[in-house]
Amino acid sequence: MAKKKSILDFYRMKKEGEQVAWVTAYDFPMASFAEQAGMDMILVGDSLGMVVLGYNSTIPVTMEECISHCKAVRRGAPNTWVIGDMPFMSYQKSDEQAVENAGRFLKEADMDCVKLEGGRRVASRIKAITDAGMVVMGHIGLTPQSSGQLGGFKAQGRDVKSARELIKDALAVQEAGAYALLLEAVPPELSKFLQQKLDIPVYSIGAGPCDGQLLICGDMLGLFQAFTPKFVKQYANVAEIEINAFKEYINDVKTGKFPTDDHVYHIKDSMEDFERLFKEFE
Ligand code: KIV
Repeated sequence: MAKKKSILDFYRMKKEGEQVAWVTAYDFPMASFAEQAGMDMILVGDSLGMVVLGYNSTIPVTMEECISHCKAVRRGAPNTWVIGDMPFMSYQKSDEQAVENAGRFLKEADMDCVKLEGGRRVASRIKAITDAGMVVMGHIGLTPQSSGQLGGFKAQGRDVKSARELIKDALAVQEAGAYALLLEAVPPELSKFLQQKLDIPVYSIGAGPCDGQLLICGDMLGLFQAFTPKFVKQYANVAEIEINAFKEYINDVKTGKFPTDDHVYHIKDSMEDFERLFKEFE
């Protein structure tokens, strides 16, 4: 089994140009499969709200839901670097609130790190969490928790004006002490600049080549059916596999093909003994 990675591995990998492959996971089996496959790290994203809880956005996701899913992921992937995603309103109010909730991810769910969305406006939160001894990842570009302000789930930094703001945000996140930065849905020209400009690892989800790539498991495995972003490469269609399996099962049950003799526990005493038993109750 591969040794669990630390921030030192991620810094080395950036320096040596070794790509980091990571994915979201929300439960024990998904985390276990990711670890068995050799994933470098796992994000328990607040996307769990949309992918597994059926909400329309990430906004309703609570700290309790995140902690519960993080615990399941940790049980499934004990030897993988796992990042807990701070949900909406778990860090927006104050530095104190941010430190307290980040601490819960580590103390209660054994996370290695927390991620929060935003640039300059959350710099003091990143600094406060880092000053409390925890590891933080920043996340800028398309930030789903503030998609209302962005006018929807839209790519960011495509013009010089908004790219300038993102560069300032990226520098502020690094300056505040984040160990890594995630860019979501920004053009590869800007990602490449930031990857070279920043000392910390810069990862991409829909931002082209960087120091590593993240995909949402629901998208890459074909589990999430509401929509598929342009940047997703789908590696499997698990929804189709599951629906077909369920259909076959329904058909087997209704036509008596399941269960067969192979799927039952046979008696240990003789049939005569059992017939005598049944007679006692007639
Ligand atoms: O919640 C999540 O999965 C995320 C990704 C969209 C980056 O934050």
